Amino acid sequence: MKKLKCASFFAGVGGIDLGFEQTGKFEVVYANEFDEYAVKTYQENSSIKVDCRDINTVKTEEIPDFDVMLAGFPCQAFSIAGYREGFKDKKGRGELFFQLERIFVEKKPKIIFLENVKNLVGHDNGNTFRVILDCLHNAGYKVKYQVLNAMNYGNIPQNRERIYIVAFRDEDLYNKFNFPDPVKLTTKLNDVIDFNKKQDSKYYYTDKCPFYDTLVNDMTKTNTVYQWRRIYVRENKSNVCPTLTANMGTGGHNVPLVKVKHGIRKLTPMECFLIQGFPKTFKLPKDMANTRLYKQAGNSVVVPVINNIANEIVKIM
Ligand SMILES: C[S@@+](CC[C@H](N)C(=O)[O-])C[C@H]1O[C@@H](n2cnc3c(N)ncnc32)[C@H](O)[C@@H]1O
Repeated sequence: MKKLKCASFFAGVGGIDLGFEQTGKFEVVYANEFDEYAVKTYQENSSIKVDCRDINTVKTEEIPDFDVMLAGFPCQAFSIAGYREGFKDKKGRGELFFQLERIFVEKKPKIIFLENVKNLVGHDNGNTFRVILDCLHNAGYKVKYQVLNAMNYGNIPQNRERIYIVAFRDEDLYNKFNFPDPVKLTTKLNDVIDFNKKQDSKYYYTDKCPFYDTLVNDMTKTNTVYQWRRIYVRENKSNVCPTLTANMGTGGHNVPLVKVKHGIRKLTPMECFLIQGFPKTFKLPKDMANTRLYKQAGNSVVVPVINNIANEIVKIM
C-alpha cells in the first residue's frame, strides 16, 4: 500500500501525527500549529517544517493535497472546565472547527480523523456535536465515533477518556471500519515513572510549601499517583495516573505527585510525555520552560490509542 498523505491541523507537538506515522502507512506532508513553543518541540522530533500561521489566515489552496485530515481541534470551548460556550466562545476558539470544514469541503480528503474531549457529545444539549456531524454529512462523509479510555485502549496507565471521530467519503471503507478492541493494561506506573532516580531538586516539595504537612500526612503510598486538589490530596486508587491537563504546571497545582524515597515530588515533563505514550526517544527542547512542556504534554494525546485506531484504518485500506 502506498503511504497515505496526512495533513495535520492544531498539530501541537504532533502526538496524533506520530500515532499515524508509527504504522508505517501514513506520512505527514503538512502540519499547522501556531504556538511557537509546541512547534519547537514538534520540529525537534520531525523533519516537517510546521506552518506556524494562525489557521484562520491560511488559504486552502496553500495547503498541499492530502488523503487524511488529522485534527485534535482546541477543546476549551467544549470542556466542562472551559467556557461552556461552544461555537459561541467569545474568543473564537469554538469556531475553529469551521476552519477544518472550510478545508475538508475543498480538499475532499478520503478520511477525516478528529479527537476531542469526551463531553463534546453532550455539549449544549448535543447541539455542538450535531453541528459537527451535519458539517461532515453535508460534505459527503459517513461518520463513526467512540469514546475510548487510554487505560483500556492504549495499554497506558492514564485515566484519559477522549472522543475519536473517523469519517470516510467511501461507504465501503466506512462499513468495514471498526474501532479497536480493548487491550489489557500491562504497563505499570513504574514503567513510565522513575520512582528511584533522584530528580532535580526543583521537582520536590519542601516545608516552604504551605500545604506540605497535608502532603506528608496524606501521601502514604509509593507506586501511586496523587493529585493536589486545592485543599486536599486525591489518591488515584486504580493505580493509574489521573488525566493530564493543559493547565498543569501553572499555579503550582495539577501536576500529578508521587512519593518516592527522596521525598514528595511532581512528575517531570518527560514522565508526563511518557504517560501520554510518547516513546522514550522523544526529545524535549533543552532550553524550554517546564510550564510550556507540561502544557504541551497535557494538550496532547495518548499516542498508542491513536496508533491502534490508525492500524484499524490500515486494515481496511
Ligand atoms: C488540543 S491541542 C492539540 C494537540 C495535538 N493533538 C498534540 O498531539 O499535541 C490544540 C492546538 O491547537 C493550537 N491552535 C489553537 N488555535 C489555533 C489557530 N487559530 N491556528 C493554529 N493553531 C491553533 C493550539 O496552540 C494547540 O496546540
